[in-house]
Amino acid sequence: MNREKVLVTSALPYANGRIHLGHLSGAYLPADIYVRYKRLKGDDIIYICGSDEHGVPITITADKEKVSPKVIIDRYHELNKSAFEKFGMSFDIYSRTSLPIHHKTAQEFFKCYYDQELLVEKKSMQFYDEKVKMFLPDRYVEGTCPRCGYEEARSDECEKCGSLYEPSELINPKSKISGETPVLKETSHWYFPLGKYQERLEKYIAGMSEKYGWKDNVLQYCRSWFKDGLKDRAYTRDLDWGVKVPIDGAEGKVLYVWFEAVLGYISATKELSEIRNNSGLWKKYWQDTGTKYIAFIGKDNIVFHTIIFPAMLMAWNDVSEEKYLLPQNVPANEFLNFEGKKFSKSRGWGVDVLEFLEIFPSDPLRYTLAANLPENKDTDFYWKEFQGRNNGELADILGNFINRTFTFAFKHFDGKVPAADNLDKIDLEMIELMKSYPGKVGSLIERYKIKDAVFEMMNLARAGNKYFNDSEPWVSVKKNKEKCAATINICLNAIYTLGELFEPVVPFSSEKIFKMLNTQKCEWEKCGELNLKAGHKLNQPEILFTKIEDNVIEEQINKLGVVEGEAPKSETTKDEEITIEDFKRVKLKVAKIISAERVKKSEKLLKLQIDLGTEQRQVVAGIAKSYEPEELIGKKIMVVANLKPAKLFGLDSQGMILALDTAENGKVKLIEADASIEPGTTAK
Ligand code: MF3
Ligand code: ZN
Repeated sequence: MNREKVLVTSALPYANGRIHLGHLSGAYLPADIYVRYKRLKGDDIIYICGSDEHGVPITITADKEKVSPKVIIDRYHELNKSAFEKFGMSFDIYSRTSLPIHHKTAQEFFKCYYDQELLVEKKSMQFYDEKVKMFLPDRYVEGTCPRCGYEEARSDECEKCGSLYEPSELINPKSKISGETPVLKETSHWYFPLGKYQERLEKYIAGMSEKYGWKDNVLQYCRSWFKDGLKDRAYTRDLDWGVKVPIDGAEGKVLYVWFEAVLGYISATKELSEIRNNSGLWKKYWQDTGTKYIAFIGKDNIVFHTIIFPAMLMAWNDVSEEKYLLPQNVPANEFLNFEGKKFSKSRGWGVDVLEFLEIFPSDPLRYTLAANLPENKDTDFYWKEFQGRNNGELADILGNFINRTFTFAFKHFDGKVPAADNLDKIDLEMIELMKSYPGKVGSLIERYKIKDAVFEMMNLARAGNKYFNDSEPWVSVKKNKEKCAATINICLNAIYTLGELFEPVVPFSSEKIFKMLNTQKCEWEKCGELNLKAGHKLNQPEILFTKIEDNVIEEQINKLGVVEGEAPKSETTKDEEITIEDFKRVKLKVAKIISAERVKKSEKLLKLQIDLGTEQRQVVAGIAKSYEPEELIGKKIMVVANLKPAKLFGLDSQGMILALDTAENGKVKLIEADASIEPGTTAK
């Protein structure tokens, strides 16, 4: 057999927070399914991951907690490592970028570029926060865009109008770390000239994609980067946490985290070499031309893995005897959201992996996530769907098929595999079907269509139940025991097939299945055959999947949006109940808009004068993104008339306007009263 040599990596998560379900769906579960499948197939594969332990956010967390960054990375490295273990990730190594071997590797690459005079040294003015005594990375400075007036623009780039400018042009800059106004200070950095590689990168991606079928979402991102033209990228930062820039006179500077984190894959493989006492191992996977390298990531990492990392490897390969392999494919996923919204720790939205696995076993989670991977578009995790997949699919289809077959085998065949002699058409058809599955499922996984592969796996369990029903072994056991034996034999063999097909998705349950079958897995291609022979002794069955009750799921749903130490937010799916008296305290009235104008320096606010029948009032409302001031005049709208007055942007606001949240990038729609209604009319 032709064994493929494969190197697989998953993005190195930051050791700055806990892994949540979204991370799993993006870069980890699909890779683990792929890797487990390849191992069963007999391919020669290693799977590399580890913690990304540098970068500014880690230093900020450390400052907040008044501890050293080392305390933070140690904490999250251990937490995430154990979360991955419990979830059943089968990394060959889970390394860390704070290790000396990584620092050395990252410095070697920098030196290689420096020595070939590839890096461009440039002086620039950067924002400096005098309070915390540090240069501020772009995303820690906010101000007003000098072109369009957008108030949340970054130091050199406005995401609203897309313009680029000098940091000195930013209006009213603020440090996001201290809130102070930062000063501009000169500094000097080395830049990696990405532009020099654009042509070769375009060729590389076109070539790989044509041969190996890259995903459309990935190609689209690349195309837009190429269209804008690749620019020089700063390779260094003024910071003292990270990999030191290995040249004289560069004190206080470290390598930009992305330029070293991607090399973490290589360092981790070197560490694995050491652990396995096999010094040639890392080169075999990184440099043998026969190896294929697949990099699993989430969509926010695309540019780093399809452009920056390949360019770095090209620049190394140009001058070195050792030639690294570039990714053959980068099957990036989109994002998983949680119950319709982005994961957010601060808003208490979403669940992290350790939390989840305290309550539920890993396999139902793996199955639910795998069945709903964001392969082509963002998807959502819903608690109800989780319950449905566990109860209705794992328990009722897969579990039920296994359970009824085992029960029959123990009741009527002494816990042994009965003989399958005289086969009918229905039996032969089932055998044929089983045989077709390893190829069908395998080819989907090879093409990173994991979601479809999982659907097919469950289809075989569905077919198993149908075969069991149509064969009516409860009838044949009385009238024709030989036929009954054949049915149970084939069902047991189908369980073997399912046990193996499902191993990459639900490995813990698969292990139990093989224990019940009292045998071992075989090579993937052969798992659809009749592997269990007549007379083979089975072990007592155990429960594979337990149903999840409604109240258990509801308890989880009720926790949503609750931040520790705070009352539940209105975001909870289940609304808090109030009495009619509570409601009556709110005075809802119809008001007519008399005038409307924009609030200076604000994107979102309009200042309205409204007529409430008996009085006139001023209300400041966040509807500027949804309505032009002119179109509002004369509208009859609903207001909460007895809301405590407030000041917004220094303006008095007496009342609140009711509008419907369309969930469409912050747009709202006013609730309007019929034109015939008089201002001041109350709602009840
Ligand atoms: N730490 C990054 C993130 O969580 C991913 C780094 S991937 C690597 O988004 F290639 F740089 F390692
Ligand atoms: Zn702008």
